[in-house]
Amino acid sequence: MTARVLDGKAVARQIFDDIRRAVAARVSVGKTRPKLATVLVGDDPASVQYVELKQKNAKQVGIDSEDHRLPALTTTEELLSLVRRLSADETVSAILVQQPAPRQIDMARVVQALDPVKDVDGFHPINAGLVALGLPGGVEPCTPAGIIELLDRAGVQIEGANAVVVGRSNLVGKPTALLLLKRNATVTVCHTRTRDLASHTRDADILVAAAGKANLISKEMIKSGASVVDVSTNWVDGRQVGDLGPGVDEVAGWLTPNPGGVGPMTRAMLIKNTYEAEVRRRP
Ligand code: GUN
Repeated sequence: MTARVLDGKAVARQIFDDIRRAVAARVSVGKTRPKLATVLVGDDPASVQYVELKQKNAKQVGIDSEDHRLPALTTTEELLSLVRRLSADETVSAILVQQPAPRQIDMARVVQALDPVKDVDGFHPINAGLVALGLPGGVEPCTPAGIIELLDRAGVQIEGANAVVVGRSNLVGKPTALLLLKRNATVTVCHTRTRDLASHTRDADILVAAAGKANLISKEMIKSGASVVDVSTNWVDGRQVGDLGPGVDEVAGWLTPNPGGVGPMTRAMLIKNTYEAEVRRRP
C-alpha cells in the first residue's frame, strides 16, 4: 500500500481563501478589519521562521498585524506588561505569544494575563476549560483543530475509531485527545512512561504522533490502512523530520507529509481563530 497524502498545504490554502473572502466581505460593509499581534521572545531560528510565516499568512488574507520582538533575556514582568497592554488595546483582535519561550519566562502567568477573547491559541485556562468540558464559547488550540480539520476534509471517519495520541503536551497531545474524544473516537494517550508503546499504536485507526522524538514510531508499529498524522518538528542534520521512521507510507492508508502536513494547518487555524476572535468581539 502507498498511503494517500493528507495534504496540509493544499487544505490550508483553501482555508486562507475562505478567510480572505470573509474579511473582505466584513470590511466592505464598514466593519473592523481583524488584527493579529504576535510576540516573540528571543531569536530561536525556528521560532523566528514560524512567526514570520504567521505574519505573512495574516497579510495574505487581509488581516492587519503587529510583530513584537523582545530580547532573549526579557523577564516575565516585562513580557506581562506587553501582554497586558495588547489585551487592553482596542485595535488588537488576537494575541499569540510564540512558544517555547526562554526558560526564565513563567508562561502560565503570561497566558493567564491574556484577555481570553484575544487568546488565539486557546491556551488560557478559561478556553482550555471550556474545550475540555465540551462547552461552547472556548477557543480550540490551532494544531489540534488543524489535525481534526485535515482528517475531516480527507473523509477519515473519527467517530468510533481507535485513536492513539503519542504525546501529552498541553500544546498538542492533551487537547488533540480531547477534540478526538468530542468527536466520539475511542482515545488512548501514550507518553514517555507508556509500557509497550507498539501494543497501543498497532491498534490505532488514527495515530497522532506528537512526541518530539525522531524515528520513535517504526512502520512495524502501524496498523495497515491507518490514518497517520506526524505532528512533531524535530531537526536532524539540519533537516525537519517528525516522529516516524522510514517506510510508514507503505503501511498507512493516509499520511501527513512532514514538513507540509500539520504546520500549514496550524497557521490556517490561527488565521481562522484571529478572524473569529474579531467577529466575537465586534459581531
Ligand atoms: N509553538 C509551536 N506551535 C505553536 C502554536 O500553535 N502556538 C504558539 N503560541 N506557539 C507554538
